[in-house]
Amino acid sequence: MSTSQNQMHLAAFVTAGPGRPGGWRYPGSERNWLSASYYQHIGRVLEQGRFDLMFFADILSVPDRLGNSMDSQLRYGSLGSLRLDPTPILASVAAVTRHLGVAATVSTSYLEPFPVARSFATTDHLSDGRAAWNVVTSFQDSEARNFGNDRHIDRDKRYERADEFLEVACKLWDSWDDDALVVDPAAPLFADPERVHRIDHEGEWFSVRGPLNVSRPPQGYPVIIQAGASPKGRDFAARWSDVIFCSHASLESAREFYQDIKGRAVRHGRRAEDVKILPMANPVIGPTTEAARETERQLADLVPPLAGLSTLAYHLDIDLSGLPLDEPLPDVDVPGVQGHYKEVVEMTRRDGLTLRELGKRYGGRTEGAFVGTAAEVADGMERWYTEGACDGFTVGAVHTPGAFEDFVRQVVPELQRRGVLRTEYEGETLRDNLGLERPASGTWRNRRYGA
Ligand SMILES: Cc1cc2nc3c(=O)[nH]c(=O)nc-3n(C[C@H](O)[C@H](O)[C@H](O)COP(=O)(O)O)c2cc1C
Repeated sequence: MSTSQNQMHLAAFVTAGPGRPGGWRYPGSERNWLSASYYQHIGRVLEQGRFDLMFFADILSVPDRLGNSMDSQLRYGSLGSLRLDPTPILASVAAVTRHLGVAATVSTSYLEPFPVARSFATTDHLSDGRAAWNVVTSFQDSEARNFGNDRHIDRDKRYERADEFLEVACKLWDSWDDDALVVDPAAPLFADPERVHRIDHEGEWFSVRGPLNVSRPPQGYPVIIQAGASPKGRDFAARWSDVIFCSHASLESAREFYQDIKGRAVRHGRRAEDVKILPMANPVIGPTTEAARETERQLADLVPPLAGLSTLAYHLDIDLSGLPLDEPLPDVDVPGVQGHYKEVVEMTRRDGLTLRELGKRYGGRTEGAFVGTAAEVADGMERWYTEGACDGFTVGAVHTPGAFEDFVRQVVPELQRRGVLRTEYEGETLRDNLGLERPASGTWRNRRYGA
């Protein structure tokens, strides 16, 4: 394993569907979300740009938190309007790339550890060690209703379940020793029974005998990604994650988060560099600063305010439909995603936004930090990176695939010239490229709550 300590890591934020209500309407955007070739093309572009991984967000319902209606999500092609299951897409992207990591979001609140561990072990094998799992705990009653419950589990309980879920998944990945699969036709010895173990897990949430019916993944454990923002979520992320996603409206809040998470990881006996923190960046690039601003305006014009507000209502888990559109978002108690609330409060105050403007901005997700020429975007990213706000970025495309193509063609060479981005992949597996150790069997013991 070799990786440069002073080079940033890049993940790409992708949805298996339109995702952004302005992006899919933007001229030149591709709209074949139902075809593998759409995702394979993006994967190839990202690999040319030496991205570490392509990450698929996911949710398990069509959001209806705004006025108890799915209307604006469906009508405007917002965040949760159409979402393919990302897991099979990973294999199709891995088949046309060699180095790019492939990550899917899977919730620990509704599924069971056995099929999830099996699915990621399979993807890790099929991709020769490039699989990653974005572990989410979900936050919406609308998701619970698709799994036989009226209400979602409360935050403390869902992180307890997530802890046990990850413990069981890791035990299952460890249930085959690394050398258990022998495949000696002469002996004959296919798999050594001495080296494949039942796990006999009996816990509060799960009872799983094991072993897994897939041999230990090439990476030991697939790369674990998390995006917890509440104190409980941050603590969980600091213990289990290899990569952390977050979104921040300013370098200062990103830096505060970065220091907090690294401190928590160290308190849990890990090294600060064992956890890579990659905040969102949504670059809008133009030949001149003014041209980039014009593209940003054009994209915002394509977003009806309700398209963004229905997504914000979903994220905050608050019905915003009764609030006046021409006044700012008032102070509210947020049962949903604290990190997104903090971000929109900061944007609202800084830019004096009304709720209507916030809806457009939130739907477009084109907040200003990275708008300009390729050199200006690279300046901004380099500044966040060198000033201790991140280990790299989760890059979103404001329209697809054009914004990824522009980024790779224009910003990537700028970053490479400055020496802050790799020009070649360093290793074979995603862990190698992220500069992460391959976990030995039993590593989960140091990660679970109270370890
Ligand atoms: C960049 C980013 C991507 C995320 N992607 C997803 C996702 O795809 N699916 C999901 O259910 N939650 C997603 N989340 C939400 C987090 O998993 C988490 O629920 C949220 O940050 C709230 O944290 P908390 O549970 O600690 O309050 C994402 C968050 C961020 C910042």
